[in-house]
Amino acid sequence: MSEKAKSKSSRIYLIGYRGTGKSTLARLLAEHLGWSWLDADAVLEERAGQSIRQIFTTEGEAGFRARETAVLRELSLLVNHVFATGGGVVLSEENRRRLRESGHVIWLKANADTLWRRLQDDATSGDRRPPLTVGGLAEIQELLRIREPLYRACADLEIETVNRTPQELVLDIARQLE
Ligand code: S3P
Repeated sequence: MSEKAKSKSSRIYLIGYRGTGKSTLARLLAEHLGWSWLDADAVLEERAGQSIRQIFTTEGEAGFRARETAVLRELSLLVNHVFATGGGVVLSEENRRRLRESGHVIWLKANADTLWRRLQDDATSGDRRPPLTVGGLAEIQELLRIREPLYRACADLEIETVNRTPQELVLDIARQLE
C-alpha cells in the first residue's frame, strides 16, 4: 500500500448537515473499529474556551470558519480516529482537499423534512449552536442545495440515514470500508 493510501485508511471523517447523527455514529464506529473518536466542534470550543454560539457572536462566521480550518489541520495529523465534523466544514476548498487527502470521508445523508424534525427535537442545539435554522425548513432546503455538491465532492461513501438505526449504519459503513 502506498504511504498516501496508508495515511487515508487511518482516519474516517463523517460529514453532513447538522442533525444527520455524525457525533453518535463517530462514537459507535470508533468503538466498532477499536479506534478513538473526536467531535471537531467540541475540540474547537475547548481550544477557544467559548461555545460556538459565542464565537459566532464575537467573531462572526468568518472567525468561526478560520478556527474550524485550524482544528481540521490539527486533527488530520492524528491516526486511528473517527471524526465528527461541523456541517459547514466543506464550505472551504482547503478543508475539502484536506478531508479527501487525509482520510475516508463518509457523507451522512437525510432529507430536509427529516432534518427539520430532528433539529426541532434537539433541545441542546439552540444553546450551543448559532441559529442557522431561523429560516426553518426553507433555510435547510437552501443550505442543502448549496452544500450537497460540496459534500458529494469530498465523499468516498454516501450513506442514507433516514429510517435506519445507528447500529445498522455502523455495520453498513464498516462493511463498505473493508
Ligand atoms: C454548522 C454546523 C455546526 C457547527 C456550526 C456551523 C453549519 O456543526 O459547526 O454551528 O454551518 O452547518 P454540526 O453539524 O455538528 O451541528
